[in-house]
Amino acid sequence: MSVQLAVVLPTYNERSNIASMIERLDAALAGVAWEAIFVDDNSPDGTSDEAREVSQRDPRVRVIQRIGRRGLASAAIEGMLSTAAPVVAVMDADHQHDPNLLPEMLKAVESGDYDVAIASRFAEGASTEAWGRPDRVKASGIANSLARKLTGVELSDPMSGYFMLRTETLRADAHRLSGVGFKILLDIMATVDTALRVKEFPMHFAARATGESKLDRTVVFEFLVGLYDRWLGRIIPTRFALFGTIGAIGVVVHMAVLGTFLQIFGGPPVRGQLVTAFELGQTCAAMVAMTFNFVLNNALTYSDKRLTGFVPLLKGWCKFALTCSVGLTANIGVAAILVRFGVHEYPSAITGIIVGSVWNFALSSRFVWGR
Ligand code: GDD
Ligand code: MN
Repeated sequence: MSVQLAVVLPTYNERSNIASMIERLDAALAGVAWEAIFVDDNSPDGTSDEAREVSQRDPRVRVIQRIGRRGLASAAIEGMLSTAAPVVAVMDADHQHDPNLLPEMLKAVESGDYDVAIASRFAEGASTEAWGRPDRVKASGIANSLARKLTGVELSDPMSGYFMLRTETLRADAHRLSGVGFKILLDIMATVDTALRVKEFPMHFAARATGESKLDRTVVFEFLVGLYDRWLGRIIPTRFALFGTIGAIGVVVHMAVLGTFLQIFGGPPVRGQLVTAFELGQTCAAMVAMTFNFVLNNALTYSDKRLTGFVPLLKGWCKFALTCSVGLTANIGVAAILVRFGVHEYPSAITGIIVGSVWNFALSSRFVWGR
């Protein structure tokens, strides 16, 4: 019998939830020819190994183990594109999504009356027991109205990670999906050209079975990045734009630190003094600004590859400092050469800054936040 439905389960450190997820799918999908695809980003807890073990006993279970990459959205896309099933669902592997909704969702999509079935935490009749953090979506009216503008459809839960659609719907426009962040459903709905007919299924959003959540960014930030990515991402890549914006704020931080320093320690240089207040202040300011950039880029620009823990952070900081010092040399060098060739100082300085930033971005994306 050919496979009818693929259930894509992105995982990161979900080892203890794998076997029980398959048991529940098996129970919920009696009579359906299904397969489950775990897309695991090389979880340190050995989720991939566990999934392969389950797969040995049950060939309906498949595993994609990705090396050197992180990201829920891109994992979901890869999983969805890896199946021959005509219909595909995405759901969380931590038991927060109830597999018992799958048969009804499948009916809706297979009937041809709907293109997308979405399990919603906020539709009439839904409930949630997910303690531990506020409902990010409900709290944000901005997010909902932006979602409506993007997709042209009123969605009660645009950030839902539990949905189903025909694979062909996705495949036609898959090359235009951005895969950035966690807004996968929205990304699909906004990217696919045709107006999609949506059926929502109120769900009970359960508490996580074991382990912890990996998503911590605010929904508003998520949306802004998503919007930028759609509209300008092709001209200036989203990550570079974030990196550049943070760099620009870093300049302000630098000036503020330098200003404060001069206020406190400034004054005419004393004879025989080894370093001037300006030199010391400039050094402090550069260190603070550089650290500020490192922290923000780690949290935002590279949130999908974020370094955590003292040693990785310290190593990353050192590498970032090294990268930036070369970038600064390139910046000054390029500007100096341009001025010598008769270019005006300001355009020369700007060119130096751009060259230095591109260098910093290119190198740190591999060297600091690479794998
Ligand atoms: N492959 C992969 N890579 N999987 C990931 C990654 C990643 O970087 N990050 C998270 N996952 C997996 C988790 O293992 C889990 O199966 C699922 O994606 C959801 O991740 P959680 O960390 O449990 O997310 P959540 O419960 O905080 O967020 C839920 O609500 C969001 C909206 O508020 C999810 O349903 C999200 O899909 C949803 O967008
Ligand atoms: Mn979860």
